[in-house]
Amino acid sequence: MGKAQLAPSMMCADIFKLGETIRLFEKLNVPYLHIDVMDGSFVPNLMLGTAEVKQMRQFSGIPMDIHLMIEEPGDKIEWFAPQKGDYVSVHVETTRHIQRVLARIRSLGAKPMAALNPATPLSMIEEIFPDVDAILVMCVNPGYAGQKLVPQTLEKISRLRSLLDDKGFEKVEIEVDGNVTPENAVKMRKAGADIFVAGTSLIFKPGDMEEHILGFYKEMEK
Ligand code: DX5
Ligand code: ZN
Repeated sequence: MGKAQLAPSMMCADIFKLGETIRLFEKLNVPYLHIDVMDGSFVPNLMLGTAEVKQMRQFSGIPMDIHLMIEEPGDKIEWFAPQKGDYVSVHVETTRHIQRVLARIRSLGAKPMAALNPATPLSMIEEIFPDVDAILVMCVNPGYAGQKLVPQTLEKISRLRSLLDDKGFEKVEIEVDGNVTPENAVKMRKAGADIFVAGTSLIFKPGDMEEHILGFYKEMEK
């Protein structure tokens, strides 16, 4: 298991302080900017689009972790101009042809990630382990920040880690998204999580953002 990695959920950032926030992430070597893209159909919310991604790319070199919570993502991936080093995650619930969509992400130069809602069983992704660099386990029902962890997702993370390892996919990372509080992060890490999407539960909660981030890394090293 590699070093724990933070992916700040940019939908939770204060847009009036976005520039200084991203500069702080650069200073702290935050590896990804997590971009929640929502279409109001797959999830009951509208969030972040191609213009925001384009502007953030022009502003910073931090790789993107683009979370597509949209129906039929296959023909929309290119809209976000994915680059080497980016993750692009697509929900298995949003396409009949998940293997083809994941292959498309890789052909565009980005790292493919398959995402699962809390109720979606691991059996839905067992055949595509060879096609992904990571699996995203949603720990809340997608759509909004500030929700509470769906408790059974913790055991789902550890079951996924064992499944990946048993089948020889030790290198496939696990990303968790939703209610990543400092306390939940410790449990998620114990269960096998590698990448932590953090929004109002950790990075963008009241207080000093730098302290929240350094505190997270300290906790993960224990
Ligand atoms: C769910 C969202 C949230 C958000 C994280 O669709 O993707 O996971 O980014 O926000 P908190 O930390 O408030 O759960
Ligand atoms: Zn997300």
